[in-house]
Order: sequence, then C-alpha cells, then structure tokens
Amino acid sequence: MAVTILAIESSCDDTSAAIWQDGKILSNCVANQDIHQKYGGVVPEVASRAHQENIVPVVHQALEEAGIDKSKLSAVAFTKGPGLIGSLLVGVSFAKGLALSLGIPMLEVNHMRAHVLAHFAEAPHPSFPFLCLTVSGGHTQIVLVKDFLDMEVIGTTIDDAAGEAFDKTGKLLDLPYPAGPLIDHYAKEGKAIYPFPEPKIEGLDFSFSGLKTSILYFLKKELKNNPDFIKENLADICRSVQDRIVSILIKKLIRASEQTGIQEIAIAGGVSANSGLRQAIGETGQEKGWNTYIPRFEYCTDNAAMIAVTAYYKYLKGEFTDQSVTAVARWKVGI
Ligand code: KG4
Ligand code: ZN
Repeated sequence: MAVTILAIESSCDDTSAAIWQDGKILSNCVANQDIHQKYGGVVPEVASRAHQENIVPVVHQALEEAGIDKSKLSAVAFTKGPGLIGSLLVGVSFAKGLALSLGIPMLEVNHMRAHVLAHFAEAPHPSFPFLCLTVSGGHTQIVLVKDFLDMEVIGTTIDDAAGEAFDKTGKLLDLPYPAGPLIDHYAKEGKAIYPFPEPKIEGLDFSFSGLKTSILYFLKKELKNNPDFIKENLADICRSVQDRIVSILIKKLIRASEQTGIQEIAIAGGVSANSGLRQAIGETGQEKGWNTYIPRFEYCTDNAAMIAVTAYYKYLKGEFTDQSVTAVARWKVGI
C-alpha cells in the first residue's frame, strides 16, 4: 500500500504543509508572514498567532493540490524543533489533533536534519557519505551525513548564524527584514571594494559577530563624512559583505572536505538561496573536483517538503512518536 505522509512545518515565521507519496512530493504549500517586515525581525508572539490562522488553510491547500483525501493519510509529521517554541507548538498541537481524529501515527522531525534531507525531495541527490553546509537564519553548520538518519555536526557557529549576519547587516543599511534576499539583489550590481575582516577562528567552526561589528564601525565612520554614504554605495557595500560571508563559509567547507576526504558536497537552508554562495560552490567544486548539490529554491528556505522526506525515512524504520510529545526550542542534529 502507498505510504502517504502529511507534513507540517511551523518552526519560525512560515507555515507550511506538504504531501509525500511513494517517493514523491505531491504538494508543498507555504504561507509567508509578511507582517514581521515592519518590526525588522520575527516577533515570536505575532508568529505563533499567524500560524494559528494559517495552518488549517495551508493543510487544506496541500491536500487539495496533491489530490489526496485525508482518509488516505498513513501518518502525520511535524517539526518538533529547534525553533520558536510558540510557533512550534501550533504545528505539534495540530498534528496531535489530526493524528488522534484519523487514528494514524505521528512522526517528529528535527528541522535541521530536514534541511539536509531536502536534497532527497527530488533527483539528483548526493550519495552517502556527504558534507552539507546548512546555512539559515538560526544556524550555520557543517554536517557529516552518513545516512538518512545518521548525521553529525562537525562545524558550527560560535555566535551569529550566516543568515543573521545578512539580516543584521540589512538592519544597519535600513533594509527591511529579511534582508538576505535584498543584499543578494543589490550585490549583483556592486563590486567588493570594502575589505571587511575575516574572523580568525580555528577548526571547522564559524564566527560572524566580528564582521557585524566591523560593518557597524565602518558605516558610522563613513556616515560622519557623508550622510548619503549608504544610499550612494549600497551595491558595493552589499557585494563586499556578501563576498566576505561567502568566503568565510567556503573556506571552512574546503577544510572540512580536506579533513574528511569527502567530495560529495551539498548546501541547504535559507542562505543557500544566495546567488553568490551558489556560484562560489559551483566554482570551488569545479576547482576541487567535488560533486556539488544545490536544492531548488523552494527547498532551500523553510518548507514542509523537507519534513515529509525526513518523516518518510523515520516511517520506514517505525520511529513513531506518541501523544505525550511536545515541542523543543533547542535540539541538536545527531543526538
Ligand atoms: O532556512 P530559513 O528559511 O529559516 C530558518 O530556519 O532560519 O532561512 C532564513 C534566512 C534569513 O536569514 C534570510 O535572510 C536568509 O535565509 N536568506 C538569504 C537569501 N534568501 C534567504 N540570505 C542571503 N541571500 C539570499 N538570497
Ligand atoms: Zn530553517
């Protein structure tokens, strides 16, 4: 019989539902919450209320687009964490209610593991073992992926995430939240002429907070001489910041590949939508002889398809969860 999974993702500010059946994503619907733009970041209380409003319509849409009646579902999957607790609780509670009413099992999914397994939403996908650079608004990790459910974080940020570096820079530049896509857009017209420093950090870990501070002092100094400095040089500033963030990421990825001897290299998470990073991965891959994997845009940012894929492999192993489950704000991959 076909395995049909409804998956729900509500860890941050996007409410998403997807249907997986027999190795294929049939639908992947996302309701964005534009309301956070005016606050310059995600407001947890506002996000959980919006999930509450969006979850039923998004789930209906996912079922409808897939042409699946809810009576045909084999299981319901949800993001247990990590994320904003109030946002997660909406998804967890919805999944519990649905599972109970339909009499079907539940599958809990780690959001960061799901970002990695987004690569299996469609072909081509990396073969095991591979390295995945997972870069989002909340995390920056290099993950050694041995199997679907066997992975280990071998590098992580000690302060800000790469997405945070983009978003906090955007705040300094007076750009709306989330600034990552806008910085990417302006950077295309600019040149990397401002030499923002590279953090000196050993091993495979990352640090981005020094970069943010150096951008802050740089802008303060320039704005004193010319109040229109940002407006007149936006493209060059964006390009300089983006190139620096990308070079920090690529340097550690090269080191991780050399240390592990692995040349199957993937990127995942919202920041993997960045055109500078995508280009750099492609170029470095050619130079180093890597096989590189970059998911389609809709599978880079938060989406329920990646939750469905991960849930499927848990389903095959019978790793179900029960009604006592609750959301967790922190949850490491690999434990
Ligand atoms: O994975 P994601 O959708 O949500 C989290 O789990 O955090 O990632 C969101 C992050 C935000 O920081 C956003 O600015 C960044 O991804 N982002 C980008 C781009 N698109 C999204 N950063 C740089 N360039 C982009 N094109
Ligand atoms: Zn995410």
